Amino acid sequence: MEKANVREARETTSETPEGTTAVTDAKIQAVRTNVHYGDKHALKDVTLDIRAGEVTSFIGPSGCGKSTFLRCLNRMNDTIDSCRVSGTVRMDGEDIYDPKIDVVQLRARVGMVFQKPNPFPKSIYDNIAYGPRIHGLAANKDELDEIVVTSLEKAGLLAEVKDRMEAPGTGLSGGQQQRLCIARAIAVSPEVILMDEPCSALDPIATAKIEELIDELRENYTIVIVTHSMQQAARVSQRTAFFHLGELIEVGDTEQIFTNPRHKLTQGYITGRFG
Ligand SMILES: Nc1ncnc2c1ncn2[C@@H]1O[C@H](COP(=O)(O)OP(=O)(O)O)[C@@H](O)[C@H]1O
Ligand SMILES: [Mg+2]
Repeated sequence: MEKANVREARETTSETPEGTTAVTDAKIQAVRTNVHYGDKHALKDVTLDIRAGEVTSFIGPSGCGKSTFLRCLNRMNDTIDSCRVSGTVRMDGEDIYDPKIDVVQLRARVGMVFQKPNPFPKSIYDNIAYGPRIHGLAANKDELDEIVVTSLEKAGLLAEVKDRMEAPGTGLSGGQQQRLCIARAIAVSPEVILMDEPCSALDPIATAKIEELIDELRENYTIVIVTHSMQQAARVSQRTAFFHLGELIEVGDTEQIFTNPRHKLTQGYITGRFG
């Protein structure tokens, strides 16, 4: 209750764009972030706080910049040749675009799960063990086993795979593969998990399992999810950001965005007038 009041007070005294906070307890802060692909200005001056311990969802019509902005948060855009990012993105107050930042390390701290499950062509065990091995997180085989088991457990997959750890990850069902990818992200002890439409290739039952999992993970990780499903955003997130044509139009508590949007573009989108 008190915490909510503090947040409200901060938001009303905010001098930055609507819904973002000048004084902040944010895990990640993007300030006037712009992205160009060649001449195309795909993301325009986006200022947004991502809070710890919450699920934040990005919604908006196809092509509005959701994935582009998500990729700014762990420098995945670095891998796209034509892409230029400007502005500031801080995690725990530290500029993640500082040349001193180790990008491999950053992407372990800010993990990512993609639209299409993409397990490595390796065993279930090795899919999870891969990251910890690279980052030297286990001193011996017992410790590595422990990380693999714990990660699968946290991703809600252990019971289904514990008797076939050496089977290929690609042999699992789509929903299981996506939970394997979540386990793989968890294995390197991330602080933030970014998910880009993680359920769009899954059936409703597999989707429900991932949504449940997201809700469980929120306690220990800061989660950002891009979704084209407003129902999904309403179900899984505490905070929702609406994008349109590369701009952040509005951000707020999920309930407020879906019941009482401030901006008429948001209203149009959530009532299905465009999308
Ligand atoms: N690799 C790329 N090269 C050139 N343009 C891109 C690339 N990725 C995205 N875009 C363009 O940037 C805009 C935002 O795309 P994107 O972030 O993928 O939107 P969303 O995820 O909301 O559907 C779109 O106009 C898209 O065509
Ligand atoms: Mg996208």
